Amino acid sequence: MNKIVIAIDGYSGCGKSSTAKAVAKDLGYTYIDTGAMYRAATLHFLNNYLSSANPNDIAKGLKTLEISFHFNPETQLQEIYLNGLHVDDEIRTMRVSNKVSEIAAIPAIRSELVAQQQRLGKKKGVVMDGRDVGSVVFPDAELKVFMTADLNTRAERRQAELLEKGELVPLEEILENLSSRDRVDSTREVGPLIKVADALEVDTSNITFVEQVAQIVQKAREII
Ligand code: C5P
Repeated sequence: MNKIVIAIDGYSGCGKSSTAKAVAKDLGYTYIDTGAMYRAATLHFLNNYLSSANPNDIAKGLKTLEISFHFNPETQLQEIYLNGLHVDDEIRTMRVSNKVSEIAAIPAIRSELVAQQQRLGKKKGVVMDGRDVGSVVFPDAELKVFMTADLNTRAERRQAELLEKGELVPLEEILENLSSRDRVDSTREVGPLIKVADALEVDTSNITFVEQVAQIVQKAREII
């Protein structure tokens, strides 16, 4: 069977990661969360370098930045490691969410992470989600999806996810974080979030999770 690259891009918090994970599982593909990579880079800079605006700090920080994914057979999940430490929980706290779009707009950081993502997807058989996967990382991806959902729905879902992990965050704060990330992500100069012309648009506001996964899997099977 023909292996393909599936690129899933879209706004913050519209369910890209859980959808991409389920699509990958269904097809027996590897799931790669590029947002987690930008989040891990952000945690690295927050912990080690005070000023993200200082180009020397960025060069230094990139030299000591090591991101890797490991499959955990117990949970059946792909986990992210930053310099040898498992950081899945820490990268999804508001401390990181509030800084990630600023860090992700820095061209030197994007070019390093895009190169890593291209290496990770080179053998195909991957579902990769993010903001610029279909436009920059894999412009030749065989299937491109652009996911959307209305802002309130996204904020409510994100609030429930954070609560599950023990972080109680007011809805207002989440709304502000999502809309500000959308704004910064869509207007940055390098790799902005855009819907490319050949992407299949999936609006998840009024369809179930099972339906959105099925829609993408069906499209993929038509190509494979
Ligand atoms: O996907 P997630 O919401 O975890 O991504 C966190 C942030 O990482 C985004 O708001 C965006 O600033 C950045 N990002 C990016 N390019 C990607 C994936 C994520 O700039 N391909």
